[in-house]
Amino acid sequence: LRERRPLEALTPARLETGDAAMSDRRKRRPLPVAVLLSGTGRTLKNINDRVAAGRLDVEVRLVIASTPKATGVRFAGGAPSRVIERRDFSSDEAFSNEVFAACRGAGAELVVLAGWLKLLVIPDDFRNRVVNIHPALIPSFCGKGYFGHHVHQSAIDYGVKLSGCTVHFVDNQYDHGPVILQKAVPVETDDTADTLAARVFEAECEAYPEALQLIAEGRVAVERRRVR
Ligand code: GRF
Repeated sequence: LRERRPLEALTPARLETGDAAMSDRRKRRPLPVAVLLSGTGRTLKNINDRVAAGRLDVEVRLVIASTPKATGVRFAGGAPSRVIERRDFSSDEAFSNEVFAACRGAGAELVVLAGWLKLLVIPDDFRNRVVNIHPALIPSFCGKGYFGHHVHQSAIDYGVKLSGCTVHFVDNQYDHGPVILQKAVPVETDDTADTLAARVFEAECEAYPEALQLIAEGRVAVERRRVR
């Protein structure tokens, strides 16, 4: 990540609030991203809302859905969208090659998984350039099969008192790459998977834009598994 966008020093100007900081933000080129989804696209909608509010410096260049049933493409806005289905390819690698070729073609510097349910094989030029949000505190309740309400029901059944969400870089295993940031929420005694999911999603709506903005500002560096 640092290769293309160096970690910028926190100069006094960058720490300022008010007019100077605002004009600094306006001058910065938005980070071109591709968004990948398999479902309803709530995360893409949240990203678009933040961009529209002038609070997130990314530009969605492409939306890829893993199935024609993914209703989330309706939030693509002005960006082109494509459906790329795993079943049309003989291997995870061939499928991933098609996905990343499309992302390269769109000029995406970061790939944002937004409810994407297919395993990807990350090519070298996208190492630490693919991010995901998982609705639990990794390494709990994550990995293959942990998606949707199963995650929250598992947290309730286990009896944990805190759950939350994790933004992380994506490697070639489910929910495994370096953690960028996490936000915790309480698990209440009378929670159902639905009520916990809603509380976690509220935290997601803050955590993902926050992480994306840090990346867009070149303020994220990866050292082995540790993200600074
Ligand atoms: C979010 O809960 C996120 O944690 C996970 O996918 C969900 C959003 O997908 N990665 P969707 O819009 O509900 O399909």
